[in-house]
Amino acid sequence: TKQPVRVAVTGAAGQIGYSLLFRIASGDMLGKDQPVILQLLEITPALKALAGVVMELRDCAFPLLADVITSDDPMVAFKDADYALLVGAMPRKAGMERGDLLGANGGIFKPQGEALNKVASRDVKVLVVGNPANTNALIAQQNAPDLDPKQFTAMVRLDLNRAISQLAEKTDAPVTAIKNVIIWGNHSSTQYPDLSQATVNGTPALDLVDREWYETTYIPTVAKRGAAIIEARGASSAASAASAAIDHMRDWALGTAEGEWVSMGIPSDGSYGIPEGLIYGFPVRTHGGQYEIVQGLDVSDFSRGKMDATAQELTEERDEVRKLGLVK
Ligand code: NAI
Repeated sequence: TKQPVRVAVTGAAGQIGYSLLFRIASGDMLGKDQPVILQLLEITPALKALAGVVMELRDCAFPLLADVITSDDPMVAFKDADYALLVGAMPRKAGMERGDLLGANGGIFKPQGEALNKVASRDVKVLVVGNPANTNALIAQQNAPDLDPKQFTAMVRLDLNRAISQLAEKTDAPVTAIKNVIIWGNHSSTQYPDLSQATVNGTPALDLVDREWYETTYIPTVAKRGAAIIEARGASSAASAASAAIDHMRDWALGTAEGEWVSMGIPSDGSYGIPEGLIYGFPVRTHGGQYEIVQGLDVSDFSRGKMDATAQELTEERDEVRKLGLVK
């Protein structure tokens, strides 16, 4: 049997945590043969609630759950972590400007980056879920200079899953028939859900739907899905966000299927003219715990405009956190 791996999760007593931890412990993320030790981080006032979640985790008697550690200290929660899912973040409050929000999250992601730098496994795979996810990932990365920058990623997988399911519904196809949808850019309303490479049962998706629907209904529906869930449910998407985090980490750790791509928010290497260093959603293939950007795709003028607009937003976010001294 395999040795357990250490999976750190922050914001573990929150609503995403309440779905996510049980999926990790049941083997959905790293495989049904991989034992895990959960290392859970919360702020001090939430430790009591977290203790309740841990009671439930134990009550599931998951065969793969080797141990659970809880702490309000990132130096404890990130110790030797092989995987770190950074979910806890500061929500936007009424009247908060973007700079205030980025600054408040800098107060979380800077020390967490520093702690990962000091105590995590040298191969730690980091996924930032807490919003603004791309820029929070950049802050953590820039404060962990001893780790490879490529180890820091942000989640656009929920957007990808939404994009796949909306296309499946429109074309009356199962989600498994859909391949190679792309989410470019920021996990925000400027994201670009791109169907130019997508296929449905092998047929180009854009041959099956009309252009007008794609541009004026599909793209905004995917980009604004989070707000639609809040409106309907009275709370933000949590189970679907947790499921997307599982998908992101599983594909990163275990590899994508032959010929298939997923989208991950990763540090730009300048591919497709995206400014180097931004944490930007790209189409990737993964293998052996590494990801690589899918190269050589045609970019139409329409796509170029959308890809640049979301890059511009991320550049502005980076400028804000630079001004605050949170990144170089
Ligand atoms: P929540 O408010 O239910 O839970 C967040 C938890 O984080 C709370 O228990 C809080 O005590 C904890 N927390 C706050 N600061 C912390 C710190 N410094 N260290 C450790 N824990 C800390 O929120 P929910 O619904 O679980 O969402 C979490 C985050 O995920 C939010 O920022 C949300 O916007 C984001 N999100 C991102 C998505 C994506 O696609 N990238 C999708 C859905 C949500």
